[in-house]
Amino acid sequence: MSADLTTRYLGFELAHPIVPSASPLTGSIASLRKLEAAGAPAVVLPSLFEEQIVHEAAELAHLVESLSGSFIESPGGYFPELDTYNTGPDAYLRLIEDAKRELHIPIIGSLNGSTRGGWVHYARLIEDAGADALELNIYVVAANPMFTASDMETQYLELVEAVNDKINIPLAVKVSPYFSAFANMARQLVDAGADALVMFNRFYQPDFDIDEMGVTPNLELSTSHDLRLPLRWIAILFGRLHTQFAATSGVHTAEDVVKLLLAGADVTMTTAALLKYGPGHLTELVCDLERWLDDNDYSSVSQLRGSLSQTNAPDPAAFERHNYMKALTTFRSPTVA
Ligand SMILES: Cc1cc2nc3c(=O)[nH]c(=O)nc-3n(C[C@H](O)[C@H](O)[C@H](O)COP(=O)(O)O)c2cc1C
Repeated sequence: MSADLTTRYLGFELAHPIVPSASPLTGSIASLRKLEAAGAPAVVLPSLFEEQIVHEAAELAHLVESLSGSFIESPGGYFPELDTYNTGPDAYLRLIEDAKRELHIPIIGSLNGSTRGGWVHYARLIEDAGADALELNIYVVAANPMFTASDMETQYLELVEAVNDKINIPLAVKVSPYFSAFANMARQLVDAGADALVMFNRFYQPDFDIDEMGVTPNLELSTSHDLRLPLRWIAILFGRLHTQFAATSGVHTAEDVVKLLLAGADVTMTTAALLKYGPGHLTELVCDLERWLDDNDYSSVSQLRGSLSQTNAPDPAAFERHNYMKALTTFRSPTVA
């Protein structure tokens, strides 16, 4: 008999634990249909960005000012022509409405920002447009030397609380791993209202172009190697926090999915592999996962979940300093005698 692949995430029973995360692939109805046909059990739409919303609000203010005859210089400096006015946020809400109408799987909207502000009322508009849940992606680079770790944490928590106040649908929070006390931060995010933690945001590091002497944006797709970070932290937090875990970064194969389930993930999310191989890759991942469970005598995904988490692992110290010391002291290089 085939293994039971079902899992629960954000209040929904999903057919299996491999969800396409936010990317251009989830940004059009045509592509969403392909993902659903390939077996996606839910989808996360691309993010609506704080900057898009704030920019649109500024455009609107500018329009009102210019129509009333008094022109105020825009703080943003640049306004596109009026015929492009009103695209971003409105088009986003339409995408949610269309996706709800056309698809039969849970639709998770996504808001991406860094500061509390009027723009967070879009969380409510996303809910009103029909989204089944919301993923809040908080993306902040702590570059200001005057800004403390505690300022940073407060900024995150205030944002989660502000968004959570606006909505009645489940809230997932997509975070970065770069906190000095991540376990504590994760607990505070859960207390602030996160029904799930999506771990982790990939920070796209800029590169230098030494011919043009400039800084270039650099988006490199992940490899399976990148799953080590969510693997470790989900394993450490599993069973310790009253929340769900979505693993994102480096999910390319069914073995990657198995590892993250063993760590304790409720769902795994994938983007780079789907961008690379197309939506059909999802069908292969699900078949391979099912085969792996059958071959290894697991009757369900839930039987697997968390069995190599820190609380259940044969060597709990392997997740902490002990493993670091062991890795360094047992390393053998062919060039060192
Ligand atoms: C081209 C591209 C666009 C993305 N857009 C978004 C986005 O709008 N919002 C978001 O939260 N994550 C976005 N992501 C991040 C992915 O959802 C995912 O978390 C990340 O790529 C790590 O997963 P992966 O290793 O499977 O690619 C994007 C990633 C890529 C490659």
